[in-house]
Amino acid sequence: MPGRNPADLARELGLPQAIKLASNEVPYGPLPGVVEAVAEAAASSHRYPDMGVVELREAFADKLGIDADRIATGCGSVALAEHLARVTCLPGDEILYSWRSFEAYPIIAATTGATSVRVPNTAGHEHDLRAMSAAITDRTRMILVCSPNNPTGTAISGTELSRFIDSVPDDVLIVLDEAYREFVTDPAVPDGLAAHGHRPNVVVLRTLSKAWGLAGLRIGYLVGQPAVAATVRKVVTPFSTSAVAQAAALAALKQADEVARRCALVIAERERVTTAIRELVPDVPTSQANFVWLPLGAGAAEFGAACEKRGVIVRPFQGDGVRVTIGTPEENDAFLAAAATAL
Ligand SMILES: Cc1ncc(COP(=O)(O)O)c(C=O)c1O
Repeated sequence: MPGRNPADLARELGLPQAIKLASNEVPYGPLPGVVEAVAEAAASSHRYPDMGVVELREAFADKLGIDADRIATGCGSVALAEHLARVTCLPGDEILYSWRSFEAYPIIAATTGATSVRVPNTAGHEHDLRAMSAAITDRTRMILVCSPNNPTGTAISGTELSRFIDSVPDDVLIVLDEAYREFVTDPAVPDGLAAHGHRPNVVVLRTLSKAWGLAGLRIGYLVGQPAVAATVRKVVTPFSTSAVAQAAALAALKQADEVARRCALVIAERERVTTAIRELVPDVPTSQANFVWLPLGAGAAEFGAACEKRGVIVRPFQGDGVRVTIGTPEENDAFLAAAATAL
């Protein structure tokens, strides 16, 4: 989600540049081959893209070992979450999710006229899956499960997730939002698609915005049962996966090794930043994503402002905490220095 513009902040502070650690992007630029693929696709910008996104869906299907009819693509996975809400909910129906979680969820519920039912996170900043089960009503149509959770970074173990999914009635759609799956290192945390993708009421959301470095081109995908994916493909805004995005995604998918290398760098930095920041904020939860969560409560906004004064843009959630994206080692050092003076 948008935050402070780094160029504006740098100008204000008289710095050559500001550091943006606010939107969970990976800092290493587009993957090799992506800029060239974009340039080539841009040369045909006067043409509409392939509306069926056939080649790219085939490429995702190959990568995942599934049929392409189980896949729908969208203008970011956030758009797909919105489409899913639109096809499952009528005004007054309920969308259930943990809170705090991804800030788009309440907006998605509101735009479909559904009622948001928010179940508070546990004291350890995790989804409270037992309470979520208990909060299901006759009106619940969709449940968003975010693992790793944005913004707290916590992820759900296999046992817990299986128990939860078993507890959900068959006619309620469970959306596993795995935007940060590539950063998971805890072996207890399952790949939701591999573990539960076969279930009729489970849909998995993935994105190329994070580990795959395509945030600016807006491309995400979902995997569900063929009927669910086909329904979403019917309501997707026509041509919303642009030709440039399709070409970029095809190029990016050829770079799985480089993605793994970059994720390993991010993960090593995540561990380093977590250890260092816990010296100042001991209750930082263990993150399985490319960001860390500082549960600063009432001090969140002030901390965010103090970091900005030092040229580092983080993401405060007023009254709750601050999410800090893992950047390059230099960027993370700048953040840690800012945090040490801010706290
Ligand atoms: C949990 C989660 N899901 C989905 C998204 C959306 O990603 P995009 O729409 O860029 O694919 C984000 C982005 O921050 C996220 O944090």
